[in-house]
Amino acid sequence: MKNLILLAIVFAVLVHPSHQLSRHEVLSKFVERRRSGVRSEAKEWVAPSISSEYSWKLNQYSQDGLQENDKITSLSGQPAGVTFAQYAGYVTVDAEAGRALFYYFAEATEDPSTKPLLLWLNGGPGCSSFGVGAMTELGPFRVQPDGKTLSKNPYAWNQVANTLFLESPAGVGFSYSNTTSDYQNGNDDNTARDAYTFLLNWFERFPQYKNRDFYITGESYAGFYVPELADTILKNKNSQTSFLNLKGVMIGNGIMNEETDDCGSIDYEWTHALISDEEYENLRCSSSPLSYTAHNTLSFGEIYFDGQIDPYNIYAPLCSSDSNLKWASSLSIDDTPTSGLDGFDPCSSDYVLTYLNTLEVQSALHANVTNLPYEWTECSGVLSYNINATTMFPIYQRMMAAGLRILVYSGDVDAVVPVTGTRYSINALKLPIVKAWYPWMNTELDVGGYSVIYKGLTFATVRGAGHEVPSYQPSRALTMTKSFLAGKPLPS
Ligand SMILES: *[C@@H]1O[C@H](CO)[C@@H](O)[C@H](O)[C@H]1NC(C)=O
Ligand SMILES: *[C@@H]1O[C@H](CO)[C@@H](O)[C@H](O)[C@H]1NC(C)=O
Ligand SMILES: *[C@@H]1O[C@H](CO)[C@@H](O)[C@H](O)[C@H]1NC(C)=O
Repeated sequence: MKNLILLAIVFAVLVHPSHQLSRHEVLSKFVERRRSGVRSEAKEWVAPSISSEYSWKLNQYSQDGLQENDKITSLSGQPAGVTFAQYAGYVTVDAEAGRALFYYFAEATEDPSTKPLLLWLNGGPGCSSFGVGAMTELGPFRVQPDGKTLSKNPYAWNQVANTLFLESPAGVGFSYSNTTSDYQNGNDDNTARDAYTFLLNWFERFPQYKNRDFYITGESYAGFYVPELADTILKNKNSQTSFLNLKGVMIGNGIMNEETDDCGSIDYEWTHALISDEEYENLRCSSSPLSYTAHNTLSFGEIYFDGQIDPYNIYAPLCSSDSNLKWASSLSIDDTPTSGLDGFDPCSSDYVLTYLNTLEVQSALHANVTNLPYEWTECSGVLSYNINATTMFPIYQRMMAAGLRILVYSGDVDAVVPVTGTRYSINALKLPIVKAWYPWMNTELDVGGYSVIYKGLTFATVRGAGHEVPSYQPSRALTMTKSFLAGKPLPS
């Protein structure tokens, strides 16, 4: 019962159709909830067995002609000279319930037929991989302040891979279910099962990608989604599903193991002068084994928002249109060089919200939301989610045993899922070191961060990046991804 209360993270109830949560609010609630209680027992996750169910579903959902239907003629307001193909649409994952997941697919800018396939998942749980991941992080376009036009992202990952963005689970972004009780049943089992069913059907719709080198990537709460989906693929591998050629996973500022992650957050806050000595004493982790008991814990909001600091990048400027932030200044891209941020605009989510709620845009994306009870929001206002696990360590062991390539990276100015926690977590795996800590170079003159290659897993920091690494340090993020996909160590 205690576990259930601790794990039952109800992010929001549908009180008003336009109610929306920002990804920052969703994650703050998650972190606060974790800190407010006594730690529960470590809980592993068991992947669902779905092969037999799948063969039924595959017959059920013919994908004939749907690839052509999903092709995007042109996104509203897109710049001239777009040469790569874009697709978007729905894949039904449960016809009986009327549940369908929305995807956006941007093929590689050059030679898509030889480039790998990369799936990107944002976290939350409940945040949109399309609106956040594609439109503010690694996708081919960024929405302009007018909320109508797009500009090219010079560091888009579709320069190195075919990039697939999945809004997961149902209730997130444009993904929906006609059975509204599905929104109350969000949990890791259902998310993994639906994402897996999505993939199997998507590959039928895009058969030219069958057997292609496939990578699952994501950030934040996707620190759970990514290993869980990989584990589901590994567990259900058979002759029928072998076209899912999973090669590796890459996870950024992801949660991994509750105890070590949380101790890392507290140490990060103290070492970055964000909390007092007294507060640190209240919270601090005893080193062996890592554990803490929280007394009189300051809430996440008290630490950061009242101090008007963005915990997702403790040194970034804030967006003035956010009513929670009192003295935030609005800085245009040209005004930000002092923060060392390469074209980062703190108000970009506002532009995306406007853009994706435009009828013309939704129509170009084949995302007709006429029948939905909600508008597109960055993070779901309808989803209730039960987190099924506290640790991904056993899945990491299984992924390593299966020979998957694993890169765990961490933007080093994120206080929410900070680099300290990720390092404690990786250290707890006790992996032998193959190549010790070294600075990796983005260019000849630019240290991208540091890296350690362990047996089975590579760790990398991204210098000066907050929680959403490709937003804050797009050039370093692209260099890192390129190395990962090439199976090479980050350049030294
Ligand atoms: C959900 O219901 C609408 C309206 O009846 C229908 O058009 C749509 O196909 C249904 N979705 C799924 C995935 O079955
Ligand atoms: C959306 O679907 C409805 C019918 O469900 C239709 O009347 C409307 O024209 C469609 N809108 C767009 C933008 O496709
Ligand atoms: C995950 O949580 C759901 C409740 O939301 C429960 O029914 C299910 O058994 C859990 N799965 C595991 C593997 O613990």
